[in-house]
Amino acid sequence: MFHSQWTNKNSMRKHIVAGNWKMNGTLEATQKLASEVVNMYNDEVKDGTEVVMIPPYIGIQEVQRLAKGSGVKVGAQNCHQEESGAYTGEVSAGILASWSLDYVIIGHSERREYFGENNALLAQKVDQSLRHNLAPIYCCGETLEEREGNKHFEVIEKQVSEGLFHLNADQIQKTVIAYEPVWAIGTGKTASAEQAQEIHAFIRSLLAKRFTETVAAEISILYGGSVKPGNAKELFSMEDIDGGLIGGAALQSRDFIDIAKSF
Ligand code: PGA
Repeated sequence: MFHSQWTNKNSMRKHIVAGNWKMNGTLEATQKLASEVVNMYNDEVKDGTEVVMIPPYIGIQEVQRLAKGSGVKVGAQNCHQEESGAYTGEVSAGILASWSLDYVIIGHSERREYFGENNALLAQKVDQSLRHNLAPIYCCGETLEEREGNKHFEVIEKQVSEGLFHLNADQIQKTVIAYEPVWAIGTGKTASAEQAQEIHAFIRSLLAKRFTETVAAEISILYGGSVKPGNAKELFSMEDIDGGLIGGAALQSRDFIDIAKSF
């Protein structure tokens, strides 16, 4: 297995389980899911594991209301790259920050694929979110074709370097990275814990080269792609995997909380 020399898993890195609700969440479903998650979190989840709910924009305020005082964090699924202005239908990082959000997902593979977002644009979004003190969860991951063509390291290196390597050490330390192989998202196919660990360690080695070993050792790197209660323990036991970005299973409060209890 690919081990990283920069890791000391239980030392300093935050454990994070973030639920990306994607385009799901009527008012009623939002209220039900958020209140169940908050109740279960309070009763069951260990201190030291950060749980984040990431609903569609319009659900954010209601989720925050329900999560208030619980310690459960709230994030957004995207932000625009400009500060403000005539961009009908868009939401800026500044607007999100004014609602006191904690996180924003940047560069999810669905944004890359369906909305044509490339690394250069994503670098701007990362800048905007950091400017407003929102922690970006920057996503990277290869397609099935790229993996089968043995291009996964190259693809990840390009996504991570072009999206994040212009940052300074202070900024990168506020950033969370999510490795989400596209072939594992919503497909029921998870990367094996070893495959995920290999890429996480690789990302950490890139961070060590570009920044410092301390920076590399401190950044939380999440795995995403068909994480379920049944596979979370094995994935989270890997030395460079610090949690998960959860799609489908985040829509079931029981599953989501069970995943958050898998460290
Ligand atoms: P999934 O989605 O858990 O449904 O595979 C993960 C994601 O897209 O973040």
